[in-house]
Amino acid sequence: MTEGTEPATVAAVDWGEYVETALAEISQAASLDELDAVRLARLGRVSELSKAMRGIRDPETGRTLNDARQRLEAAVGEHREVLEQTELERALRDDQVDVTLPGRPVPRGHYHLLTQMRREIEDTFLGLGYEVFDGPEVEDAYHNFDALNTPPGHPSRSIMDTFYLDGDVVLRTHTSPGQIRFMETHEPPIYMVSLGRCYRRDTPDPTHTPTFHQVEGLAVDHSITLADLKGTLLHLARVLFGPDREVRVRTSFFPFTEPSAEFDVSCFLCGGAGCNVCKYSGWIEMGGCGVVDPNVFVGVGYDPELWSGFAFGLGIDRIAMLRHGLPDLRLHWENDLRYLEQF
Ligand code: DAH
Repeated sequence: MTEGTEPATVAAVDWGEYVETALAEISQAASLDELDAVRLARLGRVSELSKAMRGIRDPETGRTLNDARQRLEAAVGEHREVLEQTELERALRDDQVDVTLPGRPVPRGHYHLLTQMRREIEDTFLGLGYEVFDGPEVEDAYHNFDALNTPPGHPSRSIMDTFYLDGDVVLRTHTSPGQIRFMETHEPPIYMVSLGRCYRRDTPDPTHTPTFHQVEGLAVDHSITLADLKGTLLHLARVLFGPDREVRVRTSFFPFTEPSAEFDVSCFLCGGAGCNVCKYSGWIEMGGCGVVDPNVFVGVGYDPELWSGFAFGLGIDRIAMLRHGLPDLRLHWENDLRYLEQF
């Protein structure tokens, strides 16, 4: 084979210079990507070296080119290790976690206003030596009505007012059946409160929600008087509305108390002078109360000649609404963060 038939590339390239230039490029590659680009250009399938190797016709050229290829491959391999090491060190340095930095705060939730009030009331009565009792929300008509001296035909028993689930099974309309359940399973003396959800067939509006909360209180002991009741209510009113509050009691009627009363707290906003929170009366209605009716005692097997007691009940949602100046009772149920986050 004559010189003239050899591929032009082999003859035209100065392989010594090719290797020197390629070695310089390899050592200057600043990243693995750059190194790879140099490797492709200098050793890849379409590089001048590869093309020339495909046209090798004599051993000497073969040695020269193989030698060149080996030197370049070795250089690429060495430089790759250097780069990999540097990149590893950089990654270890950059990704370092400073465990002494303060953590990112996780936003924490808090109790719903009604739960807060419920616990406030529970704590108040626990402090007075009362027990906290949970009654069932699904009740039978006996505990919700009959045992509370509320006869068949009483308007509160109407299907228009009470949710009937099945026959005589109802959603409790008040926490008062808790009194009965507690007395059925305990002997006097009794000091207990029962708090929880109640249900009535009310159309939701600013002052009604079909689900609401009540707190029930019951004390049974020897010689309990109305003065004990009033003192207890005064204590509760002052916990909820401030130390300067007064309580007044007005006669009323409930089937399970005799005498019965409704109790009011002096307005916390105007102090009794009259404002729109107390509807210019100076008083805010809190709930119902009274002396336990002897019929109720007889129903649970207590001797009404031996024991006397008082009971009271009030709506937590309403008290919360008044205390915090809420315009609408339904806010308690709407999960609106603008409301929730204020309390
Ligand atoms: N249960 C009554 C209601 O829901 C409130 C009530 C009144 C509870 C008088 C009592 C009480 O314990 O003595 O309207």
